Amino acid sequence: MTDKFLFIKSYGCQMNVYDSDRMKDLFINKGYKITNDISKANLTILNTCHIREKAVQKVYSDIGRIKKLKNDKKNMKLVVAGCVAQAEGIEIKKRAPTVDFVVGPQSYHKLPDMINKIEEPLNSDFLQNEKFKNLIYNSSKISSEFISIQEGCDKFCSFCVVPYTRGPEFSRPIDDIINETKKYLSNGVKEIILLGQNVNAYHGNSTDGKSRDLSYLINTIAEIDEVKRIRYMTSHPIDMTDSLIKVHASNPKLMPFLHLPIQSGSDSILKKMNRKHTVSDYLKIVDKIRTIRPDIAISSDFIVGFPDETDEDFEKTMKFIEKVNFVIAYSFTYSPRPGTPAQHKDNIDQSIKKARLSALQSLLTEQQLNYNKSFINKDMEVLFEKEGRYKNQFIGRTIYNQSTFIESNEKILNKILKVKITNSTNFALECQI
Ligand code: SAH
Ligand code: SF4
Ligand code: F3S
Repeated sequence: MTDKFLFIKSYGCQMNVYDSDRMKDLFINKGYKITNDISKANLTILNTCHIREKAVQKVYSDIGRIKKLKNDKKNMKLVVAGCVAQAEGIEIKKRAPTVDFVVGPQSYHKLPDMINKIEEPLNSDFLQNEKFKNLIYNSSKISSEFISIQEGCDKFCSFCVVPYTRGPEFSRPIDDIINETKKYLSNGVKEIILLGQNVNAYHGNSTDGKSRDLSYLINTIAEIDEVKRIRYMTSHPIDMTDSLIKVHASNPKLMPFLHLPIQSGSDSILKKMNRKHTVSDYLKIVDKIRTIRPDIAISSDFIVGFPDETDEDFEKTMKFIEKVNFVIAYSFTYSPRPGTPAQHKDNIDQSIKKARLSALQSLLTEQQLNYNKSFINKDMEVLFEKEGRYKNQFIGRTIYNQSTFIESNEKILNKILKVKITNSTNFALECQI
């Protein structure tokens, strides 16, 4: 029998990375080998993102390129999975007939059967429960592993596609998460990153049938000896409970890093965004967490040029950033998305959006640069996760989630080592043992 090869490309967030790993595991179980060379592939999966228009354009331009390859190589099948698949469904096949299968993020466990023609070639059902029960969890990672613990969103921010593409909020039972964690630990993994679009809304059942929150889950995972580090993302301000904040002080395995998107520093824009929190709610959370864990690293997401955003609103966002001082943040110009409440009013000029984004990013970069600089000559603990691009180069993460580069002749992969920081940029640190 000749080998069958799977090529898979992941777009968008870390939950898609996790899903891509699960799809790999499903097909490895069916005898496939994974390839990084698409020209070798019998099966190509594009695990797509719908969050901004640009992300969707990227997918269609990739499909265009793959179409040529498919014409030369008649036995390749093309799957569109992920959030574009969910949002556009059958429309994808109308626009790009070269696509053979379309499967959403909550039904991809059916993909092997779809390809074997046991199931229909299109599935966009929300089957969260069934999906997690039918996935295969074989990690290839050695030091740090993602685990999706929560899916979907019930918050319906007016700009966002996630509630439509990932479906309603769903939390996995605690036992399932612990079993998956143990599987990865047996490969030597030391760090567990708990994922969810609204991870701090987690409310999974424990074996006694009681619903438990994220702080309980973190403490339960931390009881396992082999787990050395725990992280979670992405959180929403309204679910940042006191019990979760407290774990940052009481549990040394929980890393001092919090990704907490706000989107805007203006209350009137937050209201139009349907964010359900104010700037002062956010600042209260920052105060509380910095009181009990002063060194906590806080990051965020921002959207500029949301409909009706005035210069004054934007100035409020800049002032807010100055006040909080973020260690890193992601920022985007507003992109109107089909099916969302805000889609019809995109009334800020592209040039204004770009100018605001550039001003905001300079401020954030400056904060990030200063933050990283403050670590020079200090000792830090770093978990080395992978090899770098150059010989003897390794890349790891500090407890504050900074990328850290090192040159070493020793075997340091998957070790947590105390290092001295020697240099820094806005996006990374350099160190020596
Ligand atoms: N669940 C996370 C965010 C998921 S999307 C949360 O609640 O914060 C990741 C980021 O993409 C968002 O935080 C937002 O900043 C950005 N984003 C989402 N929709 C967008 C849109 N229509 N235009 C521009 N940026 C958007
Ligand atoms: Fe989107 Fe808002 Fe839900 Fe985050 S909380 S996933 S931004 S709808
Ligand atoms: Fe994109 Fe879907 Fe993630 S829209 S950001 S891949 S949840």
